[in-house]
Amino acid sequence: MNKKLWGGRFEKDTDALVEEFTASIDFDKNLYKEDIMGSMAHARMLAKTGIISKEEAAQIIKGLLEIKAEIENGMFEYTVELEDIHMHIEKRLFEKIGTVAGKLHTARSRNDQVALDMHLYVKEKIDDVVKGIDILMGTLWELSLQHQNTVVPGYTHLQRAQPIFLSDYFKAYYHMLRRDKGRFLKAKENADLMPLGACALAGTTLPIDRVFVKEQLGFSKIYENTIDAVSDRDFIMEFLSASSIIMVHLSRLAEDLILWSTSEFNFIELDDAYSTGSSIMPQKKNPDVLELIRGKTGRVFGNLISVLTMMKGLPLSYNRDMQEDKEPLFDTVDTVLSCLSVLPGLLKTMKIKKENMKKAVEDSFIDATYYAEYLVKKGVPFRHAHEVVGKMVSYCIKKNKKLRDLNVLELKNFSSLFEEDVKDENKGFSIK
Ligand code: ARG
Repeated sequence: MNKKLWGGRFEKDTDALVEEFTASIDFDKNLYKEDIMGSMAHARMLAKTGIISKEEAAQIIKGLLEIKAEIENGMFEYTVELEDIHMHIEKRLFEKIGTVAGKLHTARSRNDQVALDMHLYVKEKIDDVVKGIDILMGTLWELSLQHQNTVVPGYTHLQRAQPIFLSDYFKAYYHMLRRDKGRFLKAKENADLMPLGACALAGTTLPIDRVFVKEQLGFSKIYENTIDAVSDRDFIMEFLSASSIIMVHLSRLAEDLILWSTSEFNFIELDDAYSTGSSIMPQKKNPDVLELIRGKTGRVFGNLISVLTMMKGLPLSYNRDMQEDKEPLFDTVDTVLSCLSVLPGLLKTMKIKKENMKKAVEDSFIDATYYAEYLVKKGVPFRHAHEVVGKMVSYCIKKNKKLRDLNVLELKNFSSLFEEDVKDENKGFSIK
């Protein structure tokens, strides 16, 4: 007979390679807290409904709490023979309290158990991500307040386009993060569904109380359909989607700052504490932190694609394929949290070279749109104004001048509508 907790109908032991191949303990040990919390609520419910006695539930809960302490003190042994965290905890409970342990899995399957653990985990991690977003948003807001008068070229196609305030640049990222926060909170709302009681897929004939479990575990809703409850990984895909989108934003911020820190732009300098050196070139100061944020974005996208692809062809209901949701999820949580935690310090300590930003604004044709709009205000159709100013730019390039170097007489060669006030209103250059 097979020694597994499910070994009754088996005549042979599991092949060692199969044990190795099917085990998830290396990563799902991450879920120990959620698993124990879920089991304690389940045991209380079994006692409340009279399915087990109050004493039995008390023994089970005491055992589970001891196991939690063992895990947290590094006194717990893991082995691939026991497959996953659920089996490990149950087996250890047997060692501690004997046959009563066998009552815990009444009216429960690992299918609804693992679904429950994952819901609890995702909900909790979303809170951590949202805290990280709040801190980063605070940093961006502070920077935007400090740079309300700092001008910097704004770019489209990575060509100097129009002068902007650095404050608005930081606020752009602030707003992206605000939407990200909304997406994570929505994902949390959608993850707030309690699957336990679905058992393998078809519920149970035992008189369980799912509302009691829901309340014990702080969920606001219960899955209405038991097949859906064990088959659903939408909440994971939503978390991974929201994570991918926030990583797009963090990666674009990283890219901007990498460019700005080059000698070619020379708009910022990263603090030594947030830069790394080269092993061969003594002069180098590299933006590795930012490059890694940009690089790690790829793995977060990959994790989303893995789970989407893993799910798309699965027949209802639970399939073991779904065990493959864990590593991408855990990896994404770690990656997003680490990127969020490193950015505020990097942003706060970087040196902003206002003078170079201003010089870049002055050293360009970035005020061209201003001249076109000046003519529009005098009644010229925009398309025509655009062409006039285009000719002025072309003239300046030939003469090695900037638009602001043209005096009103020269400007009148392009349009008689130019008057002295074109200089007064030249906002692009009046900013100090
Ligand atoms: N380790 C499994 C997972 O992560 C737990 C559920 C196993 N269920 C089963 N019927 N084999 O999905």
